[in-house]
Amino acid sequence: MADERLSRVKGAVRGFPDFPKPGILFRDIFPILRDPSLLKDLCSLMLDHIRSKTSEVDVIVGLEARGFLFGPILAMELGCSFVPIRKAGKLPGKTEKVEYILEYGKDVFEIQEGSILKGQKVVIVDDLLATGGTMKAACELVKKVGGDIKDCLVVIELSDLKGRDKVPEGCSSLINY
Ligand code: PRP
Ligand code: ADE
Repeated sequence: MADERLSRVKGAVRGFPDFPKPGILFRDIFPILRDPSLLKDLCSLMLDHIRSKTSEVDVIVGLEARGFLFGPILAMELGCSFVPIRKAGKLPGKTEKVEYILEYGKDVFEIQEGSILKGQKVVIVDDLLATGGTMKAACELVKKVGGDIKDCLVVIELSDLKGRDKVPEGCSSLINY
C-alpha cells in the first residue's frame, strides 16, 4: 500500500516550465513548507528512510540552499550534528573546496575544516537530484574531510537525467519524476 504521507507530499510539489532557464521544468518544494502537517510528513518519511539505512548517524550534511530546510530538523530529531556545505566564500575559517557543474550552471562548494571528524557516519541531504553534479561534489568534500558516507538522500530525483550514476556512494530519493 502506498504511504499516505508520500502521496500528500508529492501532491504539494509544483512544476514551473522554463524556470530559471528555457527547457528546465523546475520542481518547487516550497508549498510543502507552507503547511506544517506536510513538512511533518516529509521529515518523518526522511527519518524513517535514514533509520532504515543506518543504525547510527553522527552528522547530517545539508547542501545549500534547499538542503538547509530539512537538514537541521532531521539532525535535531536524530540527536546528531548538522553541518552545512555552502557555495564559495560564505564559510569563515579554513575550508575544503570543490568545483562542480549544475543542470543550469557552474559553482564551487565548501565545507569547514574540522566540522566532520575522521570516521564519523554521515548522511547527506538535499531537496533534489538532477544531473548529480551537486551530490557528487558534496560526496567528494565529505570524503576529503574524512567522513564515512552512509547515505545520500534527496526528496526528488529527476530520473531521466541519470544523476545517480555520478554518485557511487548510492543515492536514495522519495519522489521520482
Ligand atoms: C539545486 C538543487 C540541488 C541541485 C541539483 O540547487 O537544490 O542542490 O540544484 O542539481 P544537480 O543534481 O544537477 O547538481 P541550486 O544549485 O539551484 O541552488 P539553490 O538550492 O541554492 O537554489
Ligand atoms: N535543481 C536543478 N534542477 C532543478 C529542477 N529541475 N527543479 C528544481 N531544482 C532544480
